[in-house]
Amino acid sequence: MNETIQQALNEQLRLELTASHAYLAMAAWAEARNLSGCAHWMRAQSEEERGHALKIFDFIHDRDGQARLGALPEPGSSFGTVLEMFEAALEHERKVTASINRIYSLALQESDYPTQVLFQWYINEQVEEEKQLTQIIDQLRLVGAEGVGLYMIDRELAGRRPEGEPEGDEEE
Ligand code: FEO
Repeated sequence: MNETIQQALNEQLRLELTASHAYLAMAAWAEARNLSGCAHWMRAQSEEERGHALKIFDFIHDRDGQARLGALPEPGSSFGTVLEMFEAALEHERKVTASINRIYSLALQESDYPTQVLFQWYINEQVEEEKQLTQIIDQLRLVGAEGVGLYMIDRELAGRRPEGEPEGDEEE
């Protein structure tokens, strides 16, 4: 695998881990305010981001490279409102999307077909992630990010299942 691609993949690995770290910090903020549904959703999202990071980690090694783990920036731990927290998450996802698109373009330029195939998966995943966050933000704006509206949304977010698991009864 060429060095430029490997470097770009390592940067993406770091970005996914940064997202995982940021969402866990958001889960902590929500947990501290007894918003257990929001906390659950963010924790699940954090796990999902770790999965995204590990997918790249494995891909780098499958292609005879080596993953590099650098320091992660300290995540934000204070948000004015739940709405602001989800808006910060969407902003982060947009940065991730831009980075994924850049790497895909680079893979085209370098005729690196395996990276193109892998990043098609990430491109689709980003559409889904931005959609989910936009829906939550719209709902928060619609019913209000406080009081009964927030209570209802928090309950709904509590129903999130890990990726690939069907919706159903509480398992715990
Ligand atoms: Fe893995 Fe949400 O980007």
